[in-house]
Amino acid sequence: MSDQTTDTFGDKTGLCARGVPVSPGNEIISFVSHEFRAPLGALMGALSIIESGVLGDLPPKMRPMLEMAQRNARRLLALSDDLIDADVIESGCLKLHLSPVDLSDVVRDCVSANRVIADRKGVAVEVAAIDRPVKVRADRKRLEQVLTNLLTNAIKFSEEGGTVDVAVVHEGQGARITVRDRGPGIPADLQPRIFQKFAKSDDGNHAGNGLGLYISKAFVEAQDGQIEFTSQPGDTRFVIVLPLSFTDE
Ligand SMILES: Nc1ncnc2c1ncn2[C@@H]1O[C@H](COP(=O)(O)OP(=O)(O)OP(=O)(O)O)[C@@H](O)[C@H]1O
Ligand SMILES: [Mg+2]
Repeated sequence: MSDQTTDTFGDKTGLCARGVPVSPGNEIISFVSHEFRAPLGALMGALSIIESGVLGDLPPKMRPMLEMAQRNARRLLALSDDLIDADVIESGCLKLHLSPVDLSDVVRDCVSANRVIADRKGVAVEVAAIDRPVKVRADRKRLEQVLTNLLTNAIKFSEEGGTVDVAVVHEGQGARITVRDRGPGIPADLQPRIFQKFAKSDDGNHAGNGLGLYISKAFVEAQDGQIEFTSQPGDTRFVIVLPLSFTDE
């Protein structure tokens, strides 16, 4: 079967077709997040050129400043992207590019893309052996986004020297992906609203905007899947279940 584009939630505002996903009531956030993206991209490009040395050697004293500027530009860009995604979800403009996707590939790519973050924190990420292809019908890019958020959360909340486990198994007509960490767990008062927009613990120790799980839930459900979690101190598990693809390609 060839790739298929599905307009999952429908064009509620009528603006999607014109490439302007603006959800009513969110106009200012929509405008700001869209307008910020291009200048932020240009800013990051300029900082990379300075870092590359093509314009001349960077005095050693300047490097920490440059790295701080890059870190903050990346954070702003990630926030703009998340706000745009939230806007796309709420305006009904979410379009999925569905095709059969092998979960082993997605998991392997996401784990290796986040290896640097894990190494920097001294956290091991272990992927249980996947003995045969596990094909689901999914939008690969969106699925990678969801898995990346679960992985970065698990790494972020692990102690130094901790381990994050990722497992993929067949389950009836579906596939189950589990991301487990042994961190402090999700506070009881946060658990009932964990999938809401901007939900995050107020410990002040962890960077984040509280948008990742809100976006993840919408993406997973748009792909006919489910996302759930269990959490207690020392054992937090996020589980995604997606329908298997039975199409041979
Ligand atoms: N594995 C986990 N262990 C403990 N708390 C968690 C875990 N995963 C999520 N949380 C809590 O849920 C909150 C929301 O997570 P979410 O991924 O939505 O946002 P975030 O990580 O704060 O920011 P971002 O928008 O960058 O993803 C986190 O800030 C944290 O308080
Ligand atoms: Mg997150």
